[in-house]
Amino acid sequence: MQNFEQFLLNNLPQSQSIHPTYESALHNMLKAGGKRFRPALLLGVVKAYNPLLIESAYHGAYAIELLHTYSLIHDDLPAMDNSPLRRGHPTLHVSYDEVTAILVGDALNTYAFEILSEAPFSDETKVKLIKELSSNGGLNGMVLGQAIDCYFENKPLEIEDIKILHTNKTAKLIAASLKMGAIIVAQENIANELYNFGIKLGLLFQIQDDILDVTQSTQEAGKLTNNDEDKNSFVTILGLDKAMSEANLLADELINEMQSFDESLQRELSSMLITYINRHKN
Ligand code: IPE
Ligand code: IPE
Ligand code: MG
Ligand code: MG
Ligand code: MG
Repeated sequence: MQNFEQFLLNNLPQSQSIHPTYESALHNMLKAGGKRFRPALLLGVVKAYNPLLIESAYHGAYAIELLHTYSLIHDDLPAMDNSPLRRGHPTLHVSYDEVTAILVGDALNTYAFEILSEAPFSDETKVKLIKELSSNGGLNGMVLGQAIDCYFENKPLEIEDIKILHTNKTAKLIAASLKMGAIIVAQENIANELYNFGIKLGLLFQIQDDILDVTQSTQEAGKLTNNDEDKNSFVTILGLDKAMSEANLLADELINEMQSFDESLQRELSSMLITYINRHKN
């Protein structure tokens, strides 16, 4: 991932303008790091099937991270989760102002597609990647999930509807990361299988995030915790014990399903996946 970080730093959004803080605000959250989980998934698939394409694949991985980072900046806005801390740093609406946070989010969202359009792939591959990222990150994916999440604050949902909420706001982008890897290496026979695995992995990822909201301190998480009381989080609705059991169940299923991955994919992804799949147990 070190080379990916270098690629990201070399391709930070550039803007020469009279605005004194616009460019530093654009870079702020990207440089603050984060786990880079979605890029690691995409790059793991590419490495497993065609390591020669890894540098070209950085474009795809970066595009996902850009869209994800935009989603976090908007998620933290006062109108949404109203959070002062992200990736261990003050959020953009705190460091700068709300207008800046909104516009930086907009800019990173569209820059993701600019980066994809410049990837060294055939036009056909690029259109497929753009479709995956936009359909999973956009109106019937992450954005829909965020809309449901915010609309139903203080309005408890049934657990099946919370799964739909989590699938949209978080799981689809994680699933798209795996599928975009498969598209880059032209392994479209496994693309749907990986997507379905990713949906389950993403649902677990959000349940774990809900668990960590009550088990980690703000300092440990690098973001405000104990912030989900009004939300339809797994913990708010089911309680911590049942949320843990649900996470354990999904974790077992995922570990099982990984056994049917091709050997090269297991070699590239297993150890990272196992760490993430078990992260709520620490
Ligand atoms: C946080 O995502 C938002 C969720 C979808 C739960 P991450 O936990 O991947 O955040 P970073 O990228 O590491 O900051
Ligand atoms: C946000 O879920 C998911 C996104 C699409 C950004 P959360 O609101 O639970 O994410 P955190 O806990 O603030 O990172
Ligand atoms: Mg939120
Ligand atoms: Mg939030
Ligand atoms: Mg959360």
